[in-house]
This record gives sequence, C-alpha cells and structure tokens, in this order.
Amino acid sequence: MEKPRILVSRKLPAAVEAALARDFDVTPNAEDVPLDRAAFRAALMEYDGLLVTVTDALGAEVFAGLAPRCRILANYGVGFSHIDTGAAQGAGIVVTNTPDVLSDCTADLAMTLLMMAARRAGEGERELRAGRWSGWRPTHMIGTKVTGKTLGIIGFGRIGQAMARRAHFGFGMRVLVQNRSVVAAEVLAETGAVQVDSVETLLPECDFVSLHCPGGAENRHLIGEARLAMMKPSAILVNTARGEVVDEAALAAALKGGVIAGAGLDVFEKEPEIHPALLECDNAVLLPHLGSATRETREGMGMRAVENLRQFFAGEAPQDRIV
Ligand code: DGY
Repeated sequence: MEKPRILVSRKLPAAVEAALARDFDVTPNAEDVPLDRAAFRAALMEYDGLLVTVTDALGAEVFAGLAPRCRILANYGVGFSHIDTGAAQGAGIVVTNTPDVLSDCTADLAMTLLMMAARRAGEGERELRAGRWSGWRPTHMIGTKVTGKTLGIIGFGRIGQAMARRAHFGFGMRVLVQNRSVVAAEVLAETGAVQVDSVETLLPECDFVSLHCPGGAENRHLIGEARLAMMKPSAILVNTARGEVVDEAALAAALKGGVIAGAGLDVFEKEPEIHPALLECDNAVLLPHLGSATRETREGMGMRAVENLRQFFAGEAPQDRIV
C-alpha cells in the first residue's frame, strides 16, 4: 500500500523527521522558510496531509474554492489561531494540534519572563555587556520582589495551571484566575487559586499578570489601553500566549508613560516584526517566541503530530482533533 503523502512546512527535529519517514512519504521544506498562499493552495491539492505550524498563515482564502486532496492539517503547536479552522472544516479537512507536551516548558518561560522583568535581568545584562557597569551599590538597578506577591492568570488551561503551580509552590504567590468557563474547585484548590468573574476584577488586584488564553479574533487586543490603565503602576504583564492578545502600541505607551512598570513578551502581533516602540522600552523583556523551545518539548510536539497523522490515516480518531 502506498504511504500517504505529507508535506512538512518547516524543518523539524531530526528524531521527528525520522519518525515521520517511517510511515509517510514526506516532502520536507528544505529552505525552512514559510510557504506562501499559492504554495499552500498547491499543496492542498497535491498532498494527503500537511504538517504545519504557527508561522503558516492558513486563513480562509487559502481554502477558498478548493476541493482538496488534503484531508488533515496536523498542526505542530498547541495554538492554532493561524488556521481558519472553520474554512478547513468546510473544505473537508481535519485539524489537530499538540497539547500537553509543551505546558511545562511554556510555563517555565512565562516564569522566566516574569522574573527577568521583575529583577531587570535584561537591562542588567545589557548594561554589563556594554561595559557600563560601575560596580555594586545599594541603589543600583532596583527591581521588584516576586515572592508572596499576587499573580493574575488570564486563561486557566494546562499552561495557565502549570504557571500557577510554579508561582504557588515556587514563590508562595497568591493566584487569581480569570477563565472563560468555571474552573473546577479541585483544580483551583491545588494552588489555592481564586477565580474572579472578569478581567476588570482581576487586573487592579495583581502585581503580575500572565496571559495564557487562546489568540484569534475573540481575544484580539484583550489587553489594550483601557485595561492597562486598570493595572497597578507597579505591575508587570507577561505574554507567552499569542501576540494579538495585546495591543502592542498601547503597551509600549503604557511602559513609556509609567502606566505599568514592565512587561515580558515572548509573542508579538506581527512576528518576526517587533513594534518599534517596544524596542525602545528598557522595561520590556523581549524573547523570540521561545516558549516551547527545548529539545524535549520540540520533539514531544513532533511525535504528537506524527501520532495524530498515524491515527488519522489508520482510520482512527486523532487524539488531538480540533475540528
Ligand atoms: C504553540 O504551541 O502554540 C507555541 O506557541 C509554538 O507554536
């Protein structure tokens, strides 16, 4: 029997490429640059499945008017706001993602950003490397204590919960949660978290706010000028979710104007472009979308995508089916 033909949109860890090659007729992306719309439309007509990721813009226009050969988009990543899942479904295509395997590492990175922003680690390193450090002094580069403070978590799925564990068990923080649906009492109890009814209730209470909600149209600019103004002037915002959740122009203005004290960002509205005003903010820690970037997690994500493809082509329900 012929192996299903799979197009892989970006270079993957070697172990994942080897696993894919065992069961599929794989076309890799040797250049490792994102495919454009025309290339995706052609791929949808040529391949049985596509293994795609966050850098692939798969809006409705990619699927429009096609009767594709492709029957599955196996997304490498948990977030899927880059895919118009309704349009994919309308074209008869199943979409899967890779939850669970990246929760710990993404929460680790959110905590890294929180700590870096609180303790001014980026600023300190820049000063030292530039040869501007004149030595220890009691008033040098004073940051904010983390232990015992209040952390607000917006979006209490797997990654939000992993962040709460780090904050609660590692730093004795009080955790407030805002989530679309009611969080089970036993889940909140694990970290002594309290669910509040709205973002507006959460923001003024928190020393740190970490975003873990999905991206996409429904959460676009969830944090904008008005909500930034509700935060404490001493507060720090952390975003490892999706760039579109934060209005970057408003955030840069808030950082410059002292509306909030700092930010730690791993995701951006127009990746890999960074809003120029953010680059001017010394009180912003900016990382290049590293949330899941550990060997263990990137391999885990790949194996999960391969498993979804295997299940689908074996006629089983893929474990991580979205639509
Ligand atoms: C995810 O899985 O959504 C990460 O942001 C990497 O794509």
